[in-house]
Amino acid sequence: MKRFAIKDYGDPEKVFIEVAAEPREMSPKHVRVTLQAFGINPYDVGLRQGKMKDARPVKFPYVLGNDGAGTVIEVGSDVTNVTVGDEVIVHAVGGTYGEEIVVPGNKVYRKPENMSWSEAAGLPTTGITAYHLLFSLLSIMPDQTIVVLGASGGVGSLLVQLAKANGNRVLASASSKNENYVRSLGADSFAAYDKENVGQIFENQGDVVIDATKGSRDYEAGMDIAKYGADYVVLNVLPPVEFRKPNVEYHHYGPNRDYSDQEAFATLVKNFEKEQLKINIAEVFPFTLASVIEAHERIEGHPSAGKLIVKK
Ligand SMILES: NC(=O)c1ccc[n+]([C@@H]2O[C@H](COP(=O)([O-])OP(=O)(O)OC[C@H]3O[C@@H](n4cnc5c(N)ncnc54)[C@H](OP(=O)(O)O)[C@@H]3O)[C@@H](O)[C@H]2O)c1
Repeated sequence: MKRFAIKDYGDPEKVFIEVAAEPREMSPKHVRVTLQAFGINPYDVGLRQGKMKDARPVKFPYVLGNDGAGTVIEVGSDVTNVTVGDEVIVHAVGGTYGEEIVVPGNKVYRKPENMSWSEAAGLPTTGITAYHLLFSLLSIMPDQTIVVLGASGGVGSLLVQLAKANGNRVLASASSKNENYVRSLGADSFAAYDKENVGQIFENQGDVVIDATKGSRDYEAGMDIAKYGADYVVLNVLPPVEFRKPNVEYHHYGPNRDYSDQEAFATLVKNFEKEQLKINIAEVFPFTLASVIEAHERIEGHPSAGKLIVKK
């Protein structure tokens, strides 16, 4: 079984290798999935570069990847949500860069027929993050104005769509080249961070301000936008203390054991079926080592909006 692993921390062309792996053991709680596609996330890049080696050390050779999609080929006796032959979306703790994975049954969800393999592999991390940020970390109410900075990104684009489906007014920011795309997601208003003063345009309008930009870099605008009593959420680092406004509540979103993948997938899939959720795919690469290297090089820079997918 082919898998793409890193043999060390470092640059993509130096550390990625193809390995022939033995099938993993199952338990009654697990399912075995033949993967058709996997998605690449900014998180994978940080892990490969060794930026998280203290908090999340890995044993080499290590197979990256939290997102995938494929067909269930074996089901543990305790698993009731899927059966052999089901096509599923997979959210794993590493290991999706390959032809097969064994994961707990509660980490897979049935893929709708009209969702492509690429869309399914592009959904898990961004979708689960956007869902639990809005509805578990926060409990947004439909009368709130939600501001999404980084609205063209994987997480940002889903935040916009989930908030719109919830009935919220959504103000969004991204680069000017992505304006039409972000408006097509339902944003009520758009400001381009590369051409305009986003903080001034949306000044004091956000009940909730989410910095979903790569590296949480939009805090200066974000501070201007947050209203008295607002919730301010980052995916990476909180704004420097000297920039923070009083009377704003600051949150860092991170995965949490109490957040259910099944709950998040249920809403994401329902919204997809109602055509209230689009998953933007930037490029689909063939299932090769060279593709994994190229996708990692691409995502390290400032790629076009949309997910990078490797597919059989
Ligand atoms: N804490 C967690 O659990 C968690 C989960 C998922 C992701 N994350 C993190 O969240 C961030 C976003 O993830 P993603 O997958 O959505 O990434 P992504 O798809 O690469 O999106 C990045 C966003 O940042 C914007 N951006 C890039 N450079 C910018 C700049 N100089 N100023 C303002 N905006 C800029 C992009 O806008 P344009 O392309 O339009 O310029 C885009 O909207 C990443 O840092 C990721 O590691 C954290």
